[in-house]
Amino acid sequence: MLITAGPTHEPIDEVRYLGNRSSGRLGVAIADAAASDAWEATLLLGPTHLEPAHPHVRCLRFQTTADLESLLATHFPECDALIMAAAVADFRPRERASGKWTRGESMTLDLVPTPDLVGSLPRSGQVVAGFALEPRERLLASASRKLTSKRLDLIVANPLETMESADIDAIILTPDGRQDPGPMSKDAFARLLLRTIRDLVEA
Ligand code: CTP
Repeated sequence: MLITAGPTHEPIDEVRYLGNRSSGRLGVAIADAAASDAWEATLLLGPTHLEPAHPHVRCLRFQTTADLESLLATHFPECDALIMAAAVADFRPRERASGKWTRGESMTLDLVPTPDLVGSLPRSGQVVAGFALEPRERLLASASRKLTSKRLDLIVANPLETMESADIDAIILTPDGRQDPGPMSKDAFARLLLRTIRDLVEA
């Protein structure tokens, strides 16, 4: 089981970066629950203070989207299932400035889009699960669009309030249906998601 979690940091200069507020808590909980459930679990973890508690989780760290892309290229081919919980940047600065930018009148950041990592992985039978963090009013519409466009087997539709919270009120969508388990702790949700993914792997 390969799990990605946490934010990316995209360098602006040698001091600053573009990041996001993901804590990685749910992905870390999934990795711990997977190891407890006898999966061989590898966690690709971004810059966050959290770490897996289970001693059998293999944890590899990344900072940028490009770091995560190369870790996925190495580890995705050897997994049965990928849970892509990382909050990957949509844009990064075109280049990292050397030194530290000083304060000026104004400044403009030249941003380029990052590649869609999960959507472009070459598959060979793996079960692939993604996440969509969205405002409630477009939660289901956006998540089902991403389920199709990213060729996912499952997507967790996650309302924005989930960020930085210990609880989650998410909906699990697959091409054939949905589970709406209601609010619960991220640890309990991790176990539920793993049961669903085990069923898909075994099918
Ligand atoms: N994702 C990815 N590569 C990216 C951005 C996102 O692999 N460059 C993955 C995330 O890890 C998540 C899923 O795609 O599992 C949905 O992420 P989201 O940011 O909601 O999707 P976007 O592709 O950014 O779609 P949009 O810009 O339309 O919100």
